[in-house]
Amino acid sequence: MGNTTSKAQDKRELLQQKRDESMLGGGQARIDSQHKKGKLTARERIYFLLDEGSFEEIGAFVTHRSKDFGMEKQQFLGDGVVTGYGTIEGKLVYVFSQDFTVFGGSLSETHAEKICKLMDLAMKSGAPVIGLNDSGGARIQEGVVSLGGYADIFYRNTLASGVVPQISAIMGPCAGGAVYSPAITDFIYMVENTSYMFVTGPNVVKTVTHEEVTSEELGGASVHSAKSGVAHFTAANEIDCIQQIRKLLSYIPSNCEEKTALYAYDTNSNELREELKTIVPENPNQPYDMREVIEQVADEGSFYEVHKNYAENIVVGFARIGGRSIGIIGNQPSQLAGCLDIHASQKGARFVRFCDSFNIPLLVFEDVPGFLPGTDQEWNAIITNGAKLLYAFCEATVPRVTVITRKAYGGAYDVMNSKHIGCDINYAWPTAEIAVMGAKGAAEIIFKKDIDAAADHNAELAKKEKEYGDIFANPYRAAERGFIDEVIFPEETRLKLIKAFKMLENKVANLPRKKHGNIPL
Ligand code: HXC
Repeated sequence: MGNTTSKAQDKRELLQQKRDESMLGGGQARIDSQHKKGKLTARERIYFLLDEGSFEEIGAFVTHRSKDFGMEKQQFLGDGVVTGYGTIEGKLVYVFSQDFTVFGGSLSETHAEKICKLMDLAMKSGAPVIGLNDSGGARIQEGVVSLGGYADIFYRNTLASGVVPQISAIMGPCAGGAVYSPAITDFIYMVENTSYMFVTGPNVVKTVTHEEVTSEELGGASVHSAKSGVAHFTAANEIDCIQQIRKLLSYIPSNCEEKTALYAYDTNSNELREELKTIVPENPNQPYDMREVIEQVADEGSFYEVHKNYAENIVVGFARIGGRSIGIIGNQPSQLAGCLDIHASQKGARFVRFCDSFNIPLLVFEDVPGFLPGTDQEWNAIITNGAKLLYAFCEATVPRVTVITRKAYGGAYDVMNSKHIGCDINYAWPTAEIAVMGAKGAAEIIFKKDIDAAADHNAELAKKEKEYGDIFANPYRAAERGFIDEVIFPEETRLKLIKAFKMLENKVANLPRKKHGNIPL
């Protein structure tokens, strides 16, 4: 009897020993070195990300199968990635966290298998996948099997796209093909100063193009958030990054079948916002900050901006209006007069498609003088890129509302969630101008002969500009046609939106049966 007990005890001890070993990853010295770089370990990141005590690990004892270069003698339980599930604010999420202390977090065949297993579970159970990336890329000792592992992940990222939200945080190096998994996911976070992303690193760049750049200059957080647009969010440090991910999840449902949660909000009986009366300047050429409009309309402090430093002529982000999650897209008159250009169109289109994938209603604030003119824009395909935004709005079936605050000119009027392309409720403020173009430009073209023939060209131009403006520089022609459902006082906007989105909450709209559309990529 005593013998059996001691055997059972040995078995228990072996399990405990293995558990302890797996907790240490690549060992204490490497953990210390990670800390010295100002980085948390893979497990510490999970600890801060998930609700306390909710993490359940999967695959803690997985080891690699490589036998080349003496690898069979270097085994670390877990093989460089911690995977499992837990909750954030009580909602199920799956998480993988690469462990830089084990072969630099590099991706082996088995490391990839662990991530794939997690993604398969996430798709089956309809919950978000959060990837915390900190890796030297493909496990160099493994060769092609590690490349195959990456491809297995890319394939699943694509299958999961639009099924469950996928969020990537870059918390260390992310190089080579490794960047393409985050790129397929919905949102990328980068931590300032300790993370970078590039397809080819500074050494290869130097050899091929003779450019000398540092990792930070080539692919740091500021570059990808402001220049390339690869990163949607930056964080001052890892804790900030983790807290932002938790916040993001509060706006989005767990999968494409779910609706967003309704949050409690301050049900002030007076929803009028007097501040909105004075935001749009009297001079139509004077800029203002569309964020001020958004802040007034949204539940207090709820606006979470996406791509804040990229293509600033369009503002996109999540907010709550009456406790309801809404995706907001606003032209930004304080940057390029709010013109749509290539980057703004791409930024807007990607955001619209995300919201539509996950049943998040859309709200547009419109003040747009048109598409940005110029050879740079034309030669780089503003036609194809502008069409992305148009396409994204056209195919969106979620509740859609537009508020025209000022200019809605030309093709941009059509593109920015107009009635004609499926918007449900279109409001305009009294300051709205809905026309083919601004009054001056229009007068110069259609009254050219009269202006040329007049003794005083300028006086005639001013007269004709007024004539055109009186007819079109207002919202009433569009309202007569029903293209605008209601002209509203600015201060009423929040109240109207709370009611409109509630009215639309059970909206059902279907696209024609198809395999998938062909968005102009
Ligand atoms: C195996 C790796 C590794 C890798 C790092 N290590 N990268 N082991 N495969 N890819 C190991 C190191 O040997 C070291 O082991 C430990 O991780 C830490 O690495 P250090 O170099 O000491 O750390 P640091 O100075 O911080 O530099 C980190 C680094 C550098 C910048 C990531 O290690 C590096 O440049 N690694 C190679 C990056 C790379 O070229 N990867 C392949 C990309 S191509 P010890 O035992 O000393 O702790 C690719 C193709 C994917 O990924 C294609 C998909 C389509």
